[in-house]
Amino acid sequence: MSLKEKIEQIQSDIAAAKVSNAENLEQYRIKYLGAKNIFKGLYQDLKDIAAEEKKEFGQRINALKKSSEDRFEELKALIDSTVKVDTTKEQIDLSRPVIGDAIGARHPLAIVRKQLIEVFAKIGFTVSEGPEIEDDWHNFSALNFPPEHPARDMQDTFFIEKGENEMALRTHTSSVQVRVMENSKPPIRTISPGRVYRNEAISARAHCFFHQLEGLYIDKNVSFADLKQTLDYFAREVFGEETKIRLRPSYFPFTEPSAELDVSCTICKGKGCNVCKYSGWLEILGCGMVDPAVLEAANIDSKVYSGFAFGMGVERIAQLKYRVGDLRLYSENDMRFLDQFKSAY
Ligand code: DAH
Repeated sequence: MSLKEKIEQIQSDIAAAKVSNAENLEQYRIKYLGAKNIFKGLYQDLKDIAAEEKKEFGQRINALKKSSEDRFEELKALIDSTVKVDTTKEQIDLSRPVIGDAIGARHPLAIVRKQLIEVFAKIGFTVSEGPEIEDDWHNFSALNFPPEHPARDMQDTFFIEKGENEMALRTHTSSVQVRVMENSKPPIRTISPGRVYRNEAISARAHCFFHQLEGLYIDKNVSFADLKQTLDYFAREVFGEETKIRLRPSYFPFTEPSAELDVSCTICKGKGCNVCKYSGWLEILGCGMVDPAVLEAANIDSKVYSGFAFGMGVERIAQLKYRVGDLRLYSENDMRFLDQFKSAY
C-alpha cells in the first residue's frame, strides 16, 4: 500500500471509529495516541517519498494525527456521559420488571372508600353491591316507606320510569341492605359503598350524585350497645384514637330507634371552630336498629333476629380528612385538585 493509500485508510478508520465502553476507548488511545502509535510507521515511510513531495505528505500526516486526537476527546466525552453500572458488583437483577413512574393518583373518594372498607373488614364486614337503577321496592317500600309517606320527599328522586314498573336512580345505598337480606341468611355483616343520585341543584354543598357507604349487621341478640361499640371503633380508626362520639335521637323509616352520630371536631378537637360551627361536634352519619317491619319484608324472622344499620356520605368523610369544602371539586376533574392526592393511596 502506498503512503497515500495508508493515509486515506487511516482517515476513514478514524471517522468511522466507535466505542461503547472504557475498554474500547483505551484500545483507540493505544492505536492512535500511544507510544507505538500508527503514525510512527507513516513518518518512517516519508523517507521513501520524493523530496519535492515530502513537505506535503508530512503536513498531511500531522493533520491526521491531530484529527485522531480530536476524535479521541469526542469519544471520551461520550463514554464519560453514559452511566456506568458495574453489574458484577451491584448484583442487579436485569430480569426484574421496571418500577414505573406514578402517572396518576387515586381519586380522594376512592382513597376514603378503600380506607373505610379496610376499617370494617378488620371487624368482619364484607362488601356487597347493588344496582344503581333500582325499583321502588328496594329503594322505598321494603325499607318501610309506605306509598304516600312524606319521607319519600326527603329524597328528591330521579325517576326513569313512572307508574306500575317504577324505576329510579337509587337515592341511597340502603337499597343494597334489602337485596342482601333477601339473598342471604343471618348472620349478616356487610358494608355497601356506592354512588347515589338525587334531583338537587348543584352547588358547593349539594350535588345530583354523590357516594354513600351503608352498613348492616344482623344476628341473634344484636343490641344498640353493639351499634354504639361499632361506631366508636369506626370513629377512632378513621378520625384518630382521641375522637369522641355522641348519638342524637333522629328519624328514619327503616330504623327504630334511629339516631345520628356526631364525632368530636377533628379540626379543633372539640374546642369550637368554623368547621364545627363552634359546637365542637360534626355530624357524620345516620343509624339505628333495623325496624322489625324491614326484617319481615325481607323474610327474616324479627322475633329471632335483630340488627343495626348505618349510612354515611363518603364525600363528608373526605371533606373532613382533606378539608375539601366544595362538593363540585370531586367531579370536575381539575388536575390541580387531583394532583394533590398523589402521595396518598
Ligand atoms: N339512607 C339514609 C340517607 O340516605 C342514611 C341512613 C340512615 C342509612 C340511617 C341507614 C340508617 O342505614 O340506619 O339519608
